[in-house]
Amino acid sequence: MIINARAYAKINWLLEVGSLREDGYHELSTLFQTIDLYDELRFSLSKDISLKIIDPNFSANLPIDNKNLVIKAADLLVNELDRKQGVSIQLKKTIPLGGGLGGGSADAAITLLALNQLWKANLSQEKLLSLAAKLGSDVPFFILGGTAWGKGRGIDITAQQDIDAPYLLLVNPRQEVATSRVYSEFDRLTNKDQMSTLATYFFTSAEMLFAKIKNSLSPMAKAICPQIATIETKLTELGAKAVLMSGSGATVWAVFPSALLLEQAFETLNKCEWLVIKSRTISRSEYQQSILKVSD
Ligand code: C5P
Repeated sequence: MIINARAYAKINWLLEVGSLREDGYHELSTLFQTIDLYDELRFSLSKDISLKIIDPNFSANLPIDNKNLVIKAADLLVNELDRKQGVSIQLKKTIPLGGGLGGGSADAAITLLALNQLWKANLSQEKLLSLAAKLGSDVPFFILGGTAWGKGRGIDITAQQDIDAPYLLLVNPRQEVATSRVYSEFDRLTNKDQMSTLATYFFTSAEMLFAKIKNSLSPMAKAICPQIATIETKLTELGAKAVLMSGSGATVWAVFPSALLLEQAFETLNKCEWLVIKSRTISRSEYQQSILKVSD
């Protein structure tokens, strides 16, 4: 059996950060969204667990041992099943690294889902969600996909009605911003006494959501990488109706009202030194139907 898989990236429609918890993480309220930008993975049965990375753009720094979340996910599943298993994994990287798009987390979640089938593990979605949480705060979301809330540390996932944005542009300044650094700046700059409690929203339309978008980590990421603010201004000037930094940065997403405006913005910004990617949202049903393709 061979499984060819897609690990779709995410953006955060909204990201509110609350207080620092006893476990060292922050309370979050975030609305995740899967988008049409993906890494490709291929899983085939083998004696041992191994990973090969194909990556013309960024591979220099990607580990292929148990420092890689893909191997960590496979090891975690072996541990859970308590039996020897092997798999040969090939990963083709497309999602920019360290860009707030959840690439590594998506690869890890897809590895859990694929190996659950390849190794006939039959673990429930609930069990897969709890294993995913051990791998990182963004990983459980990718078990579900579509539009979903992440609460608590980010791992308490609740599905929400899909938000549809067919004309989405991603702009990455080609500069990595370290997540832990952005969070520690957040702690340094935020007055604990003025910390507001995280709001609960119910969005039934994209317009309702776009009126409320906010990323608590934006000011800190912009202080580290001022290009983020420049990108946001340009995207707004080019006619985007909603613009926000994704996750802890540095990628900025923008929703355009038409294919024409999206194309014009792409042509204009592609002349800059930034990485510019045309995308669209991936609904939960499209996600569930297209992540794994099993063949003999
Ligand atoms: O869980 P993950 O390894 O993806 O988190 C990376 C870093 O992001 C953590 O080490 C922490 O600095 C920060 N983080 C946080 N609170 C969260 C999620 C992430 O402080 N809820």
